[in-house]
Amino acid sequence: MDGNGRWAKQRHLPRAVGHQRGVEAVRTLSRAARAMGLEALTLYAFSTENWRRPEDEVSALMGLLKRFIQSDLDEFIRDNVRLKIIGQWRALAPDIVELIEDALAKTAANTGPALVVALNYGSQDEIARAAAKAAAKGPITPASIEAELDTADLPPLDLLIRTSGEVRLSNFLLWQAAYAEMWFTDVLWPDFKPAHLEAALEQFGQRERRYGGR
Ligand code: IPE
Ligand code: MG
Repeated sequence: MDGNGRWAKQRHLPRAVGHQRGVEAVRTLSRAARAMGLEALTLYAFSTENWRRPEDEVSALMGLLKRFIQSDLDEFIRDNVRLKIIGQWRALAPDIVELIEDALAKTAANTGPALVVALNYGSQDEIARAAAKAAAKGPITPASIEAELDTADLPPLDLLIRTSGEVRLSNFLLWQAAYAEMWFTDVLWPDFKPAHLEAALEQFGQRERRYGGR
């Protein structure tokens, strides 16, 4: 989800407003993804590298995260949403950790589509943690590492979307993306609409996936 800052800048608004609109896009898109029958949607909300941003922006992002969980938790409970957080979220501020623990507990019995939020997430960090866990249990193999990834209980990654014109993965789901289809769009995240997701899915449906075969 990239482009919140540029969206705000184009409108001469503070970056925080762009992030606010970004949260609204998250809400709209996650509802749309459920309505479209997607099994899982993973959103890259805060990376291990985002700590490099100015303190006021980091705290604005954390504030938005808190408010998002507080305001949308009832909907997740009601809609049978399987909430999942990946990344080192336990290292976040204690009030956020507490909020997340509560949200996870209240949605733990849910069996519906997964809404996965990557928080304090970096793919290289995830792979290193997984490899260390795998090594402690036995031989390191692709399967033994994969079983320890934060995403171990999720379906395979099918489609990866990056908004705002950047054509890179920025440390997101590197392992999981091995055979994922990629969709890059110039649309800034706050402008990303369910129709854009539909277009990406339509293209996805037309691609022939061979997984190294022919
Ligand atoms: C993505 O938007 C928001 C994050 C989750 C941190 P950016 O803040 O990176 O927006 P640009 O790249 O400046 O437009
Ligand atoms: Mg950016």
